[in-house]
Amino acid sequence: MDTYKIPVIAIDGPSASGKGTIAQLVAKKLGFHYLDSGALYRLVALKTMQSHTNIHNTDQLAEIARNLNVVFKNEDIYLDGTIVTDAIRAEQCGLLASQIAAHPQVREALTDRQRAFCQPPGLVTDGRDMGSVIFPDAILKIFLTASAEVRAQRRYKQLKEKGINANISDLLQDIKKRDERDSNRSIAPLQQGADAQLLDTTSLTISQAQDAVLSWYNIISAKNPRLDK
Ligand code: DC
Repeated sequence: MDTYKIPVIAIDGPSASGKGTIAQLVAKKLGFHYLDSGALYRLVALKTMQSHTNIHNTDQLAEIARNLNVVFKNEDIYLDGTIVTDAIRAEQCGLLASQIAAHPQVREALTDRQRAFCQPPGLVTDGRDMGSVIFPDAILKIFLTASAEVRAQRRYKQLKEKGINANISDLLQDIKKRDERDSNRSIAPLQQGADAQLLDTTSLTISQAQDAVLSWYNIISAKNPRLDK
């Protein structure tokens, strides 16, 4: 029997913790595929706004999630043929995504789409429930976090660089609100699993955080030589 197993590195953590940046860098370094699961929830949020769907109509939200016409190409994301890479990053979209993501039917509708990203030679993915629900067999699970203040500063800098106007105290409030909702919902809440490594990046550089993930992965793959084939 072939014992080859596709290695998955699952990086979960709160909003604006830098998990997306780290996950992308690690994926590039290892030559693995990359899944930004938050983008899927943001896409459902954008489509919900575009179609003026009532955010309490769970059947319709699940329908939107099931039928998302999305293409990930290079660094861009297309929704119904239009580039929405920047549009889904708006704070409004993130907040709505967080509300929509609390509906079990929406999460269920996105499950298979997320698992389909698990392809050889491996996958690095980030979100809230990658290690707990979507890829419970991930060989490396990381809970990546940073203080809310540092996360607000990072988000501020990121938005500024994109020419998007932002107010740091509003961002901090939004981040705290989102942490509260994502951590306390009844389905797939954000929490550090017992089997996840804690990576607090409050005082780490991007490169130090990336090195921490890669060194954990190297230790694991050295013990499982068939993982890396
Ligand atoms: O990671 P992000 O900020 O782009 O995610 C946007 C929202 O989507 C987040 O506030 C909660 C939701 N989300 C989720 O519930 N589960 C995931 N795996 C990823 C995101």
